[in-house]
Amino acid sequence: MTTPLLMFVILALPCYSAPGQINRFGLPVSAHSRDFYVRSPRDQVCASVNIDILEFTCCEGERHEGAGQSCCGKRSFNLIQASCCDGQLTPHVSQLVSDCCGSRAYDPLNQLCCDLQILTRTQPHSKCCGKELYNNDHQLCCGHIIKGRKVLTKMSRHHLCCGDHQFDPRSHCCCHITYPLNPQPLNASCCAPAIQKGPHPPPAQTVQNKIIAQSSPNCMPGEKPCGQSACFNPITERCCVNPTCLQGQSYSHDQTCCEGTLSHTPGHYHSASCGSKVYNPDIKTCCCGKLSNKVLGVNLCCGTTPYGVEDRRVLCCKQTLHHVVVDGYQCSPGGLLYRPSHEIVCGSQVHRSDPGKHCCGEETYYPQYEICCNGHKHHRLRNVSCCGWKAYDPSSGQMKCCAGTLYNLQVQDRLSGEAQCCGSVLMEAGSTQTCCSAPGLDLLYPTQPGFACCGHRYANASLWSCCAGVLHPRPEPHNTTKNVIPGPRLLPLGDLKTEVLCHSRVLVGTVESVSMNLNEWSITMVNAMYMQASRGHVSAVPSPHYVTLPDHCSFPELVPGNTYILVKNYFSDTIRFISDLSDDSYPLRSILTMC
Ligand SMILES: *[C@@H]1O[C@H](CO)[C@@H](O)[C@H](O)[C@H]1NC(C)=O
Ligand SMILES: *[C@@H]1O[C@H](CO)[C@@H](O)[C@H](O)[C@H]1NC(C)=O
Ligand SMILES: *[C@@H]1O[C@H](CO)[C@@H](O)[C@H](O)[C@H]1NC(C)=O
Ligand SMILES: *[C@@H]1O[C@H](CO)[C@@H](O)[C@H](O)[C@H]1NC(C)=O
Repeated sequence: MTTPLLMFVILALPCYSAPGQINRFGLPVSAHSRDFYVRSPRDQVCASVNIDILEFTCCEGERHEGAGQSCCGKRSFNLIQASCCDGQLTPHVSQLVSDCCGSRAYDPLNQLCCDLQILTRTQPHSKCCGKELYNNDHQLCCGHIIKGRKVLTKMSRHHLCCGDHQFDPRSHCCCHITYPLNPQPLNASCCAPAIQKGPHPPPAQTVQNKIIAQSSPNCMPGEKPCGQSACFNPITERCCVNPTCLQGQSYSHDQTCCEGTLSHTPGHYHSASCGSKVYNPDIKTCCCGKLSNKVLGVNLCCGTTPYGVEDRRVLCCKQTLHHVVVDGYQCSPGGLLYRPSHEIVCGSQVHRSDPGKHCCGEETYYPQYEICCNGHKHHRLRNVSCCGWKAYDPSSGQMKCCAGTLYNLQVQDRLSGEAQCCGSVLMEAGSTQTCCSAPGLDLLYPTQPGFACCGHRYANASLWSCCAGVLHPRPEPHNTTKNVIPGPRLLPLGDLKTEVLCHSRVLVGTVESVSMNLNEWSITMVNAMYMQASRGHVSAVPSPHYVTLPDHCSFPELVPGNTYILVKNYFSDTIRFISDLSDDSYPLRSILTMC
């Protein structure tokens, strides 16, 4: 029983996994989302007008507010919040979990698409029968594909379809002679064993796969092949073979190979030469496949050019030889020539240096007066922080930063204390939306009674049970009138209430490993500390620190290497809140500034 159900689950949850800005860890997502993944960088020209790709998205020549959106025809959408089928948008169903039913999207976990109609799944393993649903276990889908199918309740587990009817093959046969098809008792003439068909047709001719043997030259006795066309005598000669073109050349023992190696130039690879050359190292120097006359002391290679270590007039940066006229030049880590006493290298740009000047992306900035957010500089006002590439003042309460996307709460008439994020999306007020999270992916769904999150999926809890982010079909519909109690959700730090974060004793630490022990998670943490920020109390905890989380099924998945805050309930040892700090570059500072 388990196997077919399991297979069904695998079929129902497509396995296309796309890592990207939205789904960093490459969770399995809908195969259709592949077409809508935003591939950066995007066009900066929209209908022959330049656009700022940090603010806008261009879809078939139409400009839309919002960076990094996906396109559905000329319209833009956020694939966390909508789906595109046949150029039509369906809101409230994420493209990452949806499938298309004609031009409408649906969630195959809780729904089925039968004959272009979206039906509610009533069983984890429901199937389509024409426009209806049926359940393989106790129902049959009989009838004609064109004239209409109908659902019959199986009279026994042996029953099979015969036209519009069902029959028991132990007592009846399906008579193919009469029409419409009809079950007949086994002793009826129609049920006599069919005339044996002629001999089986000859098996389809198997195409003989011609084995393409590595063509090797015919060599004299005592010789060995060298590449595909030459031979060499291993006693007196050696073989130079360039692996990229498989040409061989033999040479005598006082000679050696000059191989063209792959040299890396920024942006592209090129191979210096194909086919290694034979040369005498006493009179020639080989640099990257190029031969030069040998000069004593000149024994280093810079790309294809030989040079000497004592030559102070040249400097080799990333295989490019520079002639320098004054001292004090250096290579930057990116391979640019610059003078540290006068210049500063930011990315691929060399700028004049100045006391107090630092790099911000390709530009320079003054950290005293400016703040650098993802390579973009802004004036340093009081209390300023970064949100993506923008700067804002978190203490003002007017703005909310959701995973690098900044929202103006005043425009939306919202209070900062109530605003909650689901990944990079600001959730609607109230409880109309539910946020389901798996490591690295947060999806928003319209709240439905009887549904519960399972990782990033939102499933009808009477059909599916969930353990540690993995869905399991329920053999029997489950009575969900007992409310589904969700485990603690992974909250962004900014959504933890200050009375919780600041006034209780919280555990902050980096998860080193997670293992399961009799339905409990056993977690080892390193770099752990207890903190009560309002009192300024911080105490280090011996490393590793062991934490046990009861009921592993309801607990969100913790990723080794990520840093978390765990807030326990006062009187029991259970976890009340949990927050993943890994996206925060300065978690301790963020906690302390919130308190
Ligand atoms: C959830 O599943 C139950 C049990 O099959 C079904 O009756 C109900 O309609 C489903 N609810 C939704 C909203 O799909
Ligand atoms: C088939 O068998 C049933 C009883 O088993 C009998 O009543 C019926 O007459 C038989 N029919 C034929 C065509 O032999
Ligand atoms: C900066 O933040 C602190 C603490 O949140 C607050 O007291 C102060 O008024 C803020 N300053 C400005 C200029 O907003
Ligand atoms: C499901 O719950 C309802 C309401 O509590 C109850 O009336 C019903 O008998 C339950 N059904 C089953 C199968 O437990």
